Amino acid sequence: MSESTGAARNPAQEAEGFFPVSPLMIRNWSRGRFALYLRQGTSYVLYTSKGDAFTDAHRRKLDDMGVLLVHVDGAERAAYASYLLENLPELLQDEAIPLEQRGEAWYQASVMALRRVFEERLPKGLARRRFTEICDMLRTGMDFFGRNGALKQVARLVGRGYKSYHHSLGCAVLTYFVCADSPKVAPERLHAVCLGALLHDLGKARVPQEILDRDPETLTPAEREKLRAHAAAGVALCAHLPLEPETVVCMLLHHERVDGSGYPAGVCGEALPFYVKALAVCDVYDNLTRPAPWRPARTPYEALRFMKMHKDSFDVDAMRRLISVLSGAEVSTQ
Ligand SMILES: [Fe+2]
Ligand SMILES: [Fe+2]
Repeated sequence: MSESTGAARNPAQEAEGFFPVSPLMIRNWSRGRFALYLRQGTSYVLYTSKGDAFTDAHRRKLDDMGVLLVHVDGAERAAYASYLLENLPELLQDEAIPLEQRGEAWYQASVMALRRVFEERLPKGLARRRFTEICDMLRTGMDFFGRNGALKQVARLVGRGYKSYHHSLGCAVLTYFVCADSPKVAPERLHAVCLGALLHDLGKARVPQEILDRDPETLTPAEREKLRAHAAAGVALCAHLPLEPETVVCMLLHHERVDGSGYPAGVCGEALPFYVKALAVCDVYDNLTRPAPWRPARTPYEALRFMKMHKDSFDVDAMRRLISVLSGAEVSTQ
């Protein structure tokens, strides 16, 4: 055990500083990906090194010392964030961890995933301001989940795997961009829309994985019904939460199409709010550009060409705005 035997480090000398973490957020591990420090006055003293184990014995010792917080070197923030992402479903559902800390863990892990969405899937030109705006959105989401004890639902979403959570975040980001400058979406409704985009596939937690892993074209009618039920199932899972109407509508109607060919109700045209039509194009685009068990990922160009071939299903304005976002162009406000 590498207890507080390390050399003390003065926080003033650290470029990024140290940040506090509850020991409850640390699962037992055999090889830590980052070091843990104890704060002593204005200094930080090494408790366990990177590569060391963290066990019940370490935890007991912290309890005995009355230590409520350990610290992580800011230079290892990325290692901490990736640890969080991998352990998020368990952490979010761990009742021993105060809700506020679980909310913070969700926020930190989501910001890291969001950074990847920006780096890997969006044009380089998109302003840093946009990243900050979406972080603010997640922060609002965190307050919501913390206040309402809804983290269990988020844990369900994250628990379906990093890929599907990444898809949810990808849809939230794209939907934000497509809606942000549109006069058809009031700015004060954007948060509710983005939360809806984030949660849109929540109901897939109720669909057998074996069905989710198959090409929808090969499903039997009964299996297809089970898959299609995810839209309403998501709303049912959140029935006890005070969600905004836009959030619920996003979850329920994101598979509707403007030509009436969608589900669950075949709602079409002007009966569909613009933000749902925006989410629909972003959802399809994001899915097509990710690999599925039955096909490789399409390139952005191939995905857009495929969608143009089915253009009757999609709102023209939403498509135009998505293409503008993906090309890094400024989207007009008209
Ligand atoms: Fe869906
Ligand atoms: Fe989706």
